[in-house]
Amino acid sequence: MLEKRFSLPMSSRPISLPIIHTSSSRMGMGMRMKHRQKRRITQITLIVGGFLVFYCFVFLWTTPPSPSVKPSPSKQQLSQRPLPPEILNNLSLDEDQCNAAFPGLTKEIDDAVAEGPFTMKRYSNNQGPLQGRIKDGQIYIIHAQRRRDLSAEMSNSRTASLHQLNRALLTSPSPLPDTIFTLNFQDTPFGTAWVYSRPAGPLSPQQQQQQRLFLIPHFSFWSWPLPFIKSFYSATSKITTLESTLSFRSKIPKAVWRGTTWFNSVLSPHLRQKLLQTTASSPDIFDVQKLDWTGNKSRNATNALPIQDFCKYKYVIHTEGISYSGRFQFLQMCRSVVLTPPILWMQHTTHLVRPVFSWELTGNKKWDGTERVKAAWERGVRGEEANMVFVKPDWSDLEETVRWLEGNQEVAEGIADRQRELFVGGGYFSKAAEMCYWRALVRGWAGVVRPEGGEEAWEGEEGVGFEEFSLTNSLE
Ligand SMILES: *[C@@H]1O[C@H](CO)[C@@H](O)[C@H](O)[C@H]1NC(C)=O
Ligand SMILES: *[C@@H]1O[C@H](CO)[C@@H](O)[C@H](O)[C@H]1NC(C)=O
Ligand SMILES: *[C@@H]1O[C@H](CO)[C@@H](O)[C@H](O)[C@H]1NC(C)=O
Repeated sequence: MLEKRFSLPMSSRPISLPIIHTSSSRMGMGMRMKHRQKRRITQITLIVGGFLVFYCFVFLWTTPPSPSVKPSPSKQQLSQRPLPPEILNNLSLDEDQCNAAFPGLTKEIDDAVAEGPFTMKRYSNNQGPLQGRIKDGQIYIIHAQRRRDLSAEMSNSRTASLHQLNRALLTSPSPLPDTIFTLNFQDTPFGTAWVYSRPAGPLSPQQQQQQRLFLIPHFSFWSWPLPFIKSFYSATSKITTLESTLSFRSKIPKAVWRGTTWFNSVLSPHLRQKLLQTTASSPDIFDVQKLDWTGNKSRNATNALPIQDFCKYKYVIHTEGISYSGRFQFLQMCRSVVLTPPILWMQHTTHLVRPVFSWELTGNKKWDGTERVKAAWERGVRGEEANMVFVKPDWSDLEETVRWLEGNQEVAEGIADRQRELFVGGGYFSKAAEMCYWRALVRGWAGVVRPEGGEEAWEGEEGVGFEEFSLTNSLE
């Protein structure tokens, strides 16, 4: 819609001038002709120039810059202005409105689509990820693990993701293409599927052959039924209520963390134990505790913080686990500074993180990230542009970084502001953006997926309608 209004000045941009130049010299005209030509060029230049000024003026005032192809995280142009609730709560924005409201939102999808067509493996009925069909805007489940083979958590993730997809289909302002999909609701990505997370940085050529990962919003964007999180809507409104009563400078001047220590990544073993060791001696700036699970099946811990309470602190420490951490997006909603080792797992909006590496702040010697970190994040950005802080993966400069931020509150506050202003104010975590994202995913995926054996091989399998499956969790 907005885009179309500007397509004319866009396409007539600088092209006309060089053409006139070359044609005039090729014809070899006389002095007077040249003079007249020159005058005409001046006139055209003025007109085109005027057009450009007008175009820039209108464009910059009415719409955020649209994303360029494959921008690197540090150069991305992001919408940082607060969007009105009419947009943030509208589940039925069309494609143009989505792109105008949330520039860069679909980068993960665009990148995966750009790799071209791929074959989607066929799984058998009782194992592997869920496989389903979208037909005339309806979801049908073709293959699914039995409910009894899944933990309650896994079953919840599966159901939550299907509800998200269903909501995006129901609220679509225009028909979406039919397609067959694979939904991997486990934490570890593999194969050719929709997944919650992928490793940061490029895949090896071998992985590229075996994997095609399309990121979907985490199931917690629907709900995570832990007593301290609950539905996404519940968490966002509690965080918003809290943030509206607190300025950054009135927050607790400490870095907070709660978590389970046995939950570590093969890529960074002992990450969590080291965090506890490093912070134990400085209770004046750290509130870091391992979760004390009550031991019964309540899935509650005696020292757990309700998710919004992390935002009461100026600094929030983030740790990835076996893979990504599903808590990330909640911390990103705080007007607080998130401190984390370089992120190694991308979720659907992680590319919008603009990290400043701790050495840029403290002026210490640069620490070397792994190749994977460099490929994913380059060198980060300056503190004045950042919305997150990457600290040394062994936490050895965590304390120094927190103390530096305490001594440079305007920088700290800026980082905290930019985070909340982008993800909440700019609406990247809004329902509107989530719906935009799912629909872009269905369109993008449908264009490049080639179900194993061809579409005809799947024709006999009608599947069970989502409405029924959501109640029975069964294909029988
Ligand atoms: C949401 O946006 C669509 C498309 O612009 C519009 O037709 C619709 O009225 C909006 N809905 C609400 C509730 O504002
Ligand atoms: C289980 O945990 C809940 C919530 O912490 C608590 O109310 C309940 O007493 C616990 N039950 C047992 C048997 O420990
Ligand atoms: C979880 O544990 C905390 C601390 O013991 C307690 O205050 C809270 O009521 C518990 N929540 C539930 C749902 O059991």
